[in-house]
Amino acid sequence: MWNEVQETVDYIKKRTGFTPRFGVILGSGLGGFADDIEIEHSIPYNELPNFPVSTVEGHAGRLIFGKIGGNAVVAMQGRFHYYEGYTMQQVTFPVRVMKYLGVETLVVSNASGGVNPFYHVGDIVILYDHINLMPEHPLRGKNDERFGPRFLNMSEPYNLALISKAKEIAVTQGIDVKDGIYLGLQGPTFETLAEYRMVKILGADCVGMSTVPEVIVARHMGMDCFGVSVITDIGDSDGVGSVSHAEVLEAAAKAEPKVRTLIKELIVQG
Ligand code: HPA
Repeated sequence: MWNEVQETVDYIKKRTGFTPRFGVILGSGLGGFADDIEIEHSIPYNELPNFPVSTVEGHAGRLIFGKIGGNAVVAMQGRFHYYEGYTMQQVTFPVRVMKYLGVETLVVSNASGGVNPFYHVGDIVILYDHINLMPEHPLRGKNDERFGPRFLNMSEPYNLALISKAKEIAVTQGIDVKDGIYLGLQGPTFETLAEYRMVKILGADCVGMSTVPEVIVARHMGMDCFGVSVITDIGDSDGVGSVSHAEVLEAAAKAEPKVRTLIKELIVQG
């Protein structure tokens, strides 16, 4: 893994000469954030050695390099999900690459189903913690100490200073935000009503199929993380349980301008 990561990093460095400080992973329906970047380079995943290739609808599949307010950013337009059949090592490979390109702060966005009764479709939720119920762990197996420690402290998966800053930005920009705990399941089915209830009982506010592995691996390498989720459907026992991928994309697209502003300002001020 170490050698593959370094090989991919070397390839990108030679091709772009770019050193990003911020990494951004764009979730379902949130890929338009790329328009906020003054793009200097763009590399489709299939041109990157060792990179998996993205398949899911709504994900373009390229790495974008550029500036936001003078700060250097690399953004993944399209991420890899465990449910697509990738291993956890593949899902998190781009995060490892980001680290060795120079990224110190990882910003992750996603779409999720809300189970907190105070949430509504279209809400923007700043994540302050997560519950990992994915069936496989990205750090399982022999630990490579060059990346990080065997037994990783996960008491602050989402950086508290970044959360405070994002909340200040939200106030200044007039963006209504909530905060919450994200629970990661493998999917690809949306939850049954009983499963949504379980998610709520377990103490989470929203549920989705991504983010948790990337954040674990970023923390493994000492990167600070910021996570933001768009509530695209409400999964409670009174709900109609009719969520579809199209509805998720639609709700995410509606909230996108606000999420974009939030992330953009976070980077500009970073
Ligand atoms: N469940 C899981 N993943 C999701 C959901 C959901 O309700 N909405 C968007 N991604």
